[in-house]
Amino acid sequence: MRIPVIAGNWKLFKTLAESVALVNELKPLVANSQGVEIVVAPVFTALSRVSDAIKGSNIRVAAQDCYWEEEGAFTGEVAPGLLKDAGCSHVIIGHSERRQYFGETDLTVNKKTRAAIAAGLNAIVCVGETLAERESEQTFSVIDSQISGSLAGLATEDFSRVVIAYEPVWAIGTGKTASDAQAQEVHVFIRQLISRQFGQSVADAVRILYGGSVKPDNVKGLMAQPDIDGALVGGASLKAESFAAIATFNA
Ligand code: 13P
Repeated sequence: MRIPVIAGNWKLFKTLAESVALVNELKPLVANSQGVEIVVAPVFTALSRVSDAIKGSNIRVAAQDCYWEEEGAFTGEVAPGLLKDAGCSHVIIGHSERRQYFGETDLTVNKKTRAAIAAGLNAIVCVGETLAERESEQTFSVIDSQISGSLAGLATEDFSRVVIAYEPVWAIGTGKTASDAQAQEVHVFIRQLISRQFGQSVADAVRILYGGSVKPDNVKGLMAQPDIDGALVGGASLKAESFAAIATFNA
């Protein structure tokens, strides 16, 4: 009953022309897909053009970040309302690269998540442990504090606009996917945390995506896990063929 989400995070790749070309190539390849939500996340400057290009298709557009204020003297920031205005339905928040390189914290992730929901966007909220944290057996405590902090104060009804992405940092861009069992174990843990903090019905309904070296040849095994409800794909989302193969995992 949880409709899977397959989202492509293009990170800092592709010009305007390349972005539009990629979705135009993708559209026919996924046109017949059933029972899956397909999302692509281009760079800010390509959002509007990609949104125009996907009109009438089953592809949705996400931004890769947002600010938490709607307007003001905040040079360089982009408001959730402006993302909607540019045609986005989703926004990725708290990606590990933002946490690692741009000082994102659970507090800022929480502010951004609330602002995104208030603006009517779907928030894809990212969590995940580093290799050092996994090796020192802190995975569960790290995930616990990231989930609690990032989702603090959300109301039950907010969760219709929340998707969680579990992306172990050691699996991102390394070709080292978490095993199906390793991913499933953390997904179950996240669902239990959500159940404890927000109730069983919220936990049963919330989609939890896995991210970290998802490829056409490992997506089926991951998606067969009962608590994995989709994928957040980096590298393999930059080519229409490989992303389409992932997005049609259930065909
Ligand atoms: P890769 O699929 O390239 O490992 O990236 C995962 C990711 O960070 C998606 O947000």
